Amino acid sequence: FKTQVDLTDIEKGTYPFYMLKEIDEQPTVMRRLVQEYQGDNHQVNIDPALVAEFAQSDRIYIVACGTSNNAGWSAKTLIEKLTNIPVEVHLSSEFAYDMPLLSAKPFFIYLSQSGETADSRQVLVTTNKLGHPALTITNVAGSTLSREAKHTLLLYAGPEIAVASTKAYTGQIAVMSILAKAVGEYKQIQAAKEFDVFHELSIVASAMDSLINDKQHIKDLADEFLATTRNAFYIGRSNDYYVSMEAALKLKEISYVQAEGFAAGELKHGTIALIEEGTPVMAIITEEVTGSHTRGNIKEVESRGAKTLVIVTEKLAKPTDQIVLPTVHPLLSSLVSVVPTQLLAYNATIQRGYDVDKPRNLAKSVTVE
Ligand code: G6P
Repeated sequence: FKTQVDLTDIEKGTYPFYMLKEIDEQPTVMRRLVQEYQGDNHQVNIDPALVAEFAQSDRIYIVACGTSNNAGWSAKTLIEKLTNIPVEVHLSSEFAYDMPLLSAKPFFIYLSQSGETADSRQVLVTTNKLGHPALTITNVAGSTLSREAKHTLLLYAGPEIAVASTKAYTGQIAVMSILAKAVGEYKQIQAAKEFDVFHELSIVASAMDSLINDKQHIKDLADEFLATTRNAFYIGRSNDYYVSMEAALKLKEISYVQAEGFAAGELKHGTIALIEEGTPVMAIITEEVTGSHTRGNIKEVESRGAKTLVIVTEKLAKPTDQIVLPTVHPLLSSLVSVVPTQLLAYNATIQRGYDVDKPRNLAKSVTVE
């Protein structure tokens, strides 16, 4: 596989917007990551020094901004389950001035599509000074964060041009799943031994394909739920909550709908006051344990007038649910559940008449603090 930019990577082709092209490229990125990181005998091909250093740490600190920060949240559980190392996720701009107490052997992961984000770099400079090991996971080889961190893993996602990040988010989660597999195996963790990451990512790629092929259905739902509303909510629990945060961010960034991603169980402690007749509430359900509770929360908002759209994994789907997700490994559910939310944001933006690729007030890469 090529790792250098060629012209077809930066042309829109027949796509009206880069964002749609980049959403569509996600299955290819998943397959490319399998190719790039799969060594002989199915082993993970990542620098053993990086794997060892990660494995010897007692706590992982993920530091990132925006969508990359949300990717950090979406990888937290899988890293903890596969490596048995606790993970904290921090916003770079907060960490910079309010550094938490660090563990005895911290290991830092900087997530950055561009590798140039100043807020993240500021923290990296500090942790380098303190002598803590750092890994940058980025889409841009040779970027500042990549050069300044001890280790780098690349996303191989091809240039991401739309300001709203899509394939970098899923790429980051996928790379972290591959890394966590390697670290967990190194530590002889049973869950990691049983997790066939490359096979599971191939299944994810096919699941993404089928959602992407169902674009018209998602467009119709965007028209119905998001064309005219002033605000909207995404709700979910655990991993579905983390995807809700990213789903809401995507909607805010490009369609200018005031959107919030909420922990479904927390709604009744405040936010439910915002639900009015016709308020769109999108619920994400991919986990059996929390699914029935989220269903309860759906009822609560419906009884206050909300219009609900359910994004649910096959096994837990009811006939009235609008978006059904193909089954993938539970640790990788975010990679699939996020896709319809990207398409909902994209279509809502078109419907509302805005420029999808160049939202107002936002830059692709923010190199000032
Ligand atoms: C900017 C972009 C966001 C992005 C964030 C972090 O604010 O508008 O889409 O998520 O920076 O960028 P990075 O390149 O560090 O992932």
